[in-house]
Amino acid sequence: MKIKTFILLGWGVLLFSNFTYQGQDSEALSLKEAFKNDFAIGTALNSWQIEERNPAVNELIIQNFNVATPENVMKSALLHPKWDTYDFRMGDKLVEYGNKHHIKINGHTLIWHSQLPAFIRQIQSKDSIRTFFTDHIKTVAGHYKGQVFSWDVVNEALNEDGTLRNSVFLQKLGEDYITEAFRLAQEATPNTELYYNDYNNEQPAKRAGCINLVKKIKNAGVRIDGVGIQGHWHLGKVPLKDIEESILQYSALGVKVMITELDIEVLPRNFQGADVNQRLANTSESNPYTNGLPDTVQQQLANDYEALFKLLLKHKDKVSRVTFWGVTDADSWLNNWPIRGRTNYPLLFDRNNQPKPAYFKVIGLKQ
Ligand code: XIL
Repeated sequence: MKIKTFILLGWGVLLFSNFTYQGQDSEALSLKEAFKNDFAIGTALNSWQIEERNPAVNELIIQNFNVATPENVMKSALLHPKWDTYDFRMGDKLVEYGNKHHIKINGHTLIWHSQLPAFIRQIQSKDSIRTFFTDHIKTVAGHYKGQVFSWDVVNEALNEDGTLRNSVFLQKLGEDYITEAFRLAQEATPNTELYYNDYNNEQPAKRAGCINLVKKIKNAGVRIDGVGIQGHWHLGKVPLKDIEESILQYSALGVKVMITELDIEVLPRNFQGADVNQRLANTSESNPYTNGLPDTVQQQLANDYEALFKLLLKHKDKVSRVTFWGVTDADSWLNNWPIRGRTNYPLLFDRNNQPKPAYFKVIGLKQ
């Protein structure tokens, strides 16, 4: 009798734990809840998501994220379409969305060589570029003063070897433009956190360039609050050692460290990084998983995410935020970059808005 009860009890516990696991599934689990004592959890939002067009995706966002970065709507091409015309409509909607759903907004981005307004190409004179630069930062940072939590003030100013990228800003304004951008942002929005953001800046040479840049800004008496490591990494090759070294070295400068655009590429690609101007042709081998992700790849993706989050948790006192570049695999930019029209699987939610094995591994670290 005793043995029977014991067995029954045993089954009960087993059934119960199964049930809770299933019951927790996407209903009760939440990334932002799981990591609330560790770091903020963010996502990039596109226009369609800001406008709450898809209720299921909207639920995922509200349930899982406490901070968001506009995927495109606050880039200069969209906010500043003509020399003297600004269009704040979508950015304002994002701010409203954030207020409504208790999601802080990280503005992205004030100064970037890409997605610039078309009129910039017509400008030749240094003075006009300086006027654009100054007016853009003052007007945009001023407009969102008190409305956004932080800004990626300068994005992707470095080459892979740590030297400064030969952008229109470097050419026309000289190398002090980065410090100047932070100074202008600080004046326009004194209580907003100000960050430098880049890809591959966990790699030693680029990291060294990034460290110089932070030091230069600080030595000029200008405020910089954090460094964003974008985190566009590759399956089976997440550079954990370099990431750890970077977290330590950046935070030793007295700035916050963030992973700002996390995704893990599972499709073939012969270069690393996220230079949006780098594009490749479609070949027969470039899109292998149109009918679904093979189990082995799915598992590897889950293991990669788990190892990364383990490392980030180890340094939770230094890492203030982890932001994914998109919500579900369906809306990832990696479906169209660097090759258009691929079926990619870089995020934690699948095309049916369901959590993937990677999601359970990541959240499992906190259970
Ligand atoms: C990407 C967006 O996701 C795409 O929709 C857009 O077409 C190009 O830009 N680094 C950045 C982001 O800082 O702004 C880029 O976002 C991805 C690389």
